[in-house]
Amino acid sequence: MPFQPKIQRLDSIDSTNLEALRQAKAGAPEGLCIVARTQTRCRGRLDRTWQSPPGAGLYMSLLLRPEFAMTAWPLITLMAALAVYESLMKTCDLRADIKWPNDILVDEKKICGILSEMIDTPSGHAIVLGIGINLRDADPELNATSIDAESQFPVTRREVIAAVHEELAINYERLPTQPSSITKEWSHRSSYFSGKEVSVDLGNGEAYTGTTCGLEESGALRVRLPDGSLKTVHAGDVTRLRKV
Ligand code: BTN
Repeated sequence: MPFQPKIQRLDSIDSTNLEALRQAKAGAPEGLCIVARTQTRCRGRLDRTWQSPPGAGLYMSLLLRPEFAMTAWPLITLMAALAVYESLMKTCDLRADIKWPNDILVDEKKICGILSEMIDTPSGHAIVLGIGINLRDADPELNATSIDAESQFPVTRREVIAAVHEELAINYERLPTQPSSITKEWSHRSSYFSGKEVSVDLGNGEAYTGTTCGLEESGALRVRLPDGSLKTVHAGDVTRLRKV
């Protein structure tokens, strides 16, 4: 069945991800989409927070119950980034970049963050895909930017939501049958795919620097270390090394 989001709009919630997780545990079907004007306990990747002032961002979480092999589930994170990338290009003519795995940047500043969380529910494993897109008033101190600051095109929150849903539906449908098309497209849209000098922080005390050199089939990032050895990053924080 094609992916059909069903939107629940809320004024304020602790976190749209938490709300989607709660409803998933209570049996909500695939396609549930929680959208809130503001969040009081928004969650980011690697236990970070994400600012959610009222109306300044698009805060949304979608529930997926993929029926394909779990080995392909890590690609959901990359396909979500592709969907946001395409929708920002189509609705606002924004030229963005994707920082592995799924930050969307414009001129090295973050415009969108994505947190995908896997959970166990009575009807099987599921994924909550949380997407935060800055619409306006992003904090430059946090190296963030917004659609309002970057685009000439007046776009509404509803238009952005519709575009993201449309692109997600396309990517989600082809993911199980053409997984390599997701990694291939991702690689064409990310300057982090290859030849980028980065530092990698695994969040467990291990960190190193190296040069990116492509993706594994699973979407993991390969990094060549200065001693020539190869590391594969499955989860962690990748940052571009700035020339001083
Ligand atoms: C990141 O750290 O880059 C990911 C940020 C994800 C924020 C979004 S906003 C909507 C959804 N609800 C949450 O609690 N987090 C995500």
